[in-house]
Amino acid sequence: TARTKAGGNIEAAWAALREESMSCTRCPLHEHATQTVFGEGPVDAAMMFVGEQPGDQEDLAGRPFVGPAGQVFDRALTEAGIDRGTIYVTNAVKHFKFEQRGKRRIHAKPDAGEITACRWWIEQERALLRPKRTVALGATAARSLFGKAVTISRERGRALELPGGGEAWITVHPSYLLRLPDPVARTEEYARFVADLKSAAHT
Ligand code: URA
Repeated sequence: TARTKAGGNIEAAWAALREESMSCTRCPLHEHATQTVFGEGPVDAAMMFVGEQPGDQEDLAGRPFVGPAGQVFDRALTEAGIDRGTIYVTNAVKHFKFEQRGKRRIHAKPDAGEITACRWWIEQERALLRPKRTVALGATAARSLFGKAVTISRERGRALELPGGGEAWITVHPSYLLRLPDPVARTEEYARFVADLKSAAHT
């Protein structure tokens, strides 16, 4: 089985980390969210994908990318020849941030302070799994991984070096595709997204 640098069992260390994250109070988002949504996937995954934060359905299910954005993500992964069962999927922020409007919970963007507070968790995940490649899905993930604002259009689709070492790729967030009103633009942008995933996996 896979071992940590210290010789411990990675799987056990990951399970302990996940358990610890369930009672996280590093930022105020835990107050209103249902639960922490930790990363999931094999600890020996070669690729780690980082989203923004759980959405409404992820918050209820306790699993990343299971709602509408997750469906787009799953389809794009398949088209890019990536088996979701072999990758590790996590988020920059691990509690759902929302505004209550009647019965609906509307997604709210995590701010720099929340991203910074939650960075501790992703650093632990990265230190344990040490993925060969990390893919940032959107600006929040890129900010978390690079520690600064990143322009996706300029940096997407090529290998980048992470501050702490390691290869990273940047692409758009699947929710961005869902929000595009023009179906032609949506189709084009979706194709670019798939192409970015292909490059990240197979270059
Ligand atoms: N959007 C994300 O960034 N992450 C999820 O887990 C779901 C939607």
